[in-house]
Amino acid sequence: MLSRPRRNRHSATIRGLIRETELLPSHLVQPIFLMPDPNARLPVQSLPGTFRLGIEEVVIEVGECIKLGIHSFIMFPAVPEEHKNKTGTYATSHENFYLHAATRLKKEYPDICLVSDVALDPYSSDGHDGVVINGKIDNDETLLLLDAMSVAQAKAGFDIIGPSDMMDGRIGSIRRALDEEGFTDVAIMSYCAKFASAFYGPFRDALDSAPRLLEDVPTDKKSYQMDPANRREALREAALDAAEGADYLMVKPAINYLDIIRDLHQAHPLPVAAYHVSGECAMLLAAAERGWLDYEAAATEALLSIKRAGADVIITYFAKDYASWWKSGRV
Ligand code: PBG
Repeated sequence: MLSRPRRNRHSATIRGLIRETELLPSHLVQPIFLMPDPNARLPVQSLPGTFRLGIEEVVIEVGECIKLGIHSFIMFPAVPEEHKNKTGTYATSHENFYLHAATRLKKEYPDICLVSDVALDPYSSDGHDGVVINGKIDNDETLLLLDAMSVAQAKAGFDIIGPSDMMDGRIGSIRRALDEEGFTDVAIMSYCAKFASAFYGPFRDALDSAPRLLEDVPTDKKSYQMDPANRREALREAALDAAEGADYLMVKPAINYLDIIRDLHQAHPLPVAAYHVSGECAMLLAAAERGWLDYEAAATEALLSIKRAGADVIITYFAKDYASWWKSGRV
C-alpha cells in the first residue's frame, strides 16, 4: 500500500495542520427575540435555552456574548396582539419597542453589528410576510411597506437590513429607499433563497407569527417562499438580488439546504449567509435532552458542515454556546 490516508490523521497536531475548515465565533450571528416589557424573560417552549427578552435583559445578554467573541446579532420583535393589523402599521410607529431597543443597544455597544428583520409577519394580524388583499399576498403593495420599515430600522441604528419576506423586487426597492434617505452605508442581507420549510415552527411559537386560520387568508407561505424541491430557482433569486444591490445572499434553512449554500457560494462573489433555523436547532436539542446525542459535539459538527458547504456567516441559536466552547479551547 503506497497511499495511507490515515497517516494524515495520526495525531491531533497533524489533524490540526491539515484542517480545511475553521469556524470562528466572529462568523456567527446570535438571534434575539425581543419583548416590550423591559425586564421580560420568557422561555420559548419549543426551543430550550432560548428566551424572549425585554431590553434590559438583552443588554445583559449581548454583554455576555461580546465577552465570548460574538459581536453580531439579529433581532426579532414579539409584538403584542393589540398592535397587530392587516398592514402592520406598528412596524414604523414612533412607539415601536423594537426600534427603541436597536437605538439603545447601539448606544451601549457601538461596535456590535445589528441585523434587522424586514417582513410584515411579526406585525400582521393575518400572520403573513406581505399584505393580504382579496385572499392574496399583494407583492407591490407590500414593497411600499417594506421600504418604510427598512428606513425606520436604518434610522433606529440597525447596521444591516434583513428582508425575510420573499417579495419580488424588494431588494432594489429597499436599496433605493435607503439611499434616498442617505443610508448608503446600511447594508442589505437578503434572504434570497428562503424555502417554505416545516422547520420554522419554534420561531413562529416565539413570535406567535404563524399564518392565521382566517377566512380569505392563505394558510401557508408557499406563494412567496420557495419550493424545497428547487435548486435552479435559488440561483435565479440570487442573481436578481445581487443585481438589485444585495450585500449578502442568505440561504434558509441551512442543514437541509447545504447544496444550495454551495451553489450560491460558487455562483456569486457576495458573502453567503446561512440561517440555521429554529426547527433545525430544536431537533438537535430534543435528541440531546433524551441523551440520544451529545449537544456540544453534534452542534459543533452541524455548524462546521454549514461552513464547509460554503457559508461565510451563520445565524444560529447555538452561537453563544459555540463561542463558550471555543473560548475554553474545546472545539
Ligand atoms: C419570517 C421569518 C421566519 C423566520 C425568520 N423570519 C419564519 C417564517 O418565514 O415563517 C424563521 C427563523 C427560524 O425558524 O429560526 N419573516
